[in-house]
Amino acid sequence: MTAMTFDLTRTLSARWKPGDQIVVTSLEHDANLRPWLLAAQHAGAVVRWLDFDPKTGELPVETITAALNSRTRWVAITAASNVIGTKPDVAAISAAAHKVGARVHVDAVHLAAHELIDMRGLGADIISCSPYKFLGPHWRAGR
Ligand SMILES: Cc1ncc(COP(=O)(O)O)c(C=O)c1O
Repeated sequence: MTAMTFDLTRTLSARWKPGDQIVVTSLEHDANLRPWLLAAQHAGAVVRWLDFDPKTGELPVETITAALNSRTRWVAITAASNVIGTKPDVAAISAAAHKVGARVHVDAVHLAAHELIDMRGLGADIISCSPYKFLGPHWRAGR
């Protein structure tokens, strides 16, 4: 998933302009952070890094919607935190992102081992996953 997300963000960011905005959250595994941060740095894009509520462990939809604007290109959001299990309301976040013309990348690595993924229901533009989390193969570069 990490390798794919680096490839994805490298490709997407070729079209980003200085001042475009990327939204990430503190619920993310580094695999859904570092690729976006490095791509944004390379393109001169602004990163809005949003924190979950430390008292509840939740990431209210309003935290995301307040950060969205017409320059937002992508929201990178986990479907479930691998550290504290929080499941943000991805469907509502996607709907809000789409309203401003942004797209949504969902990290489903943790969720996929627990639930069937409904990509349309989540409103995701792209979902990333890792089959080895449910006994599938891992990435084998060069084979
Ligand atoms: C939530 C989450 N996202 C992404 C990853 C990274 O997946 P990969 O090891 O396939 O790069 C992990 C790995 O543990 C994870 O738990």
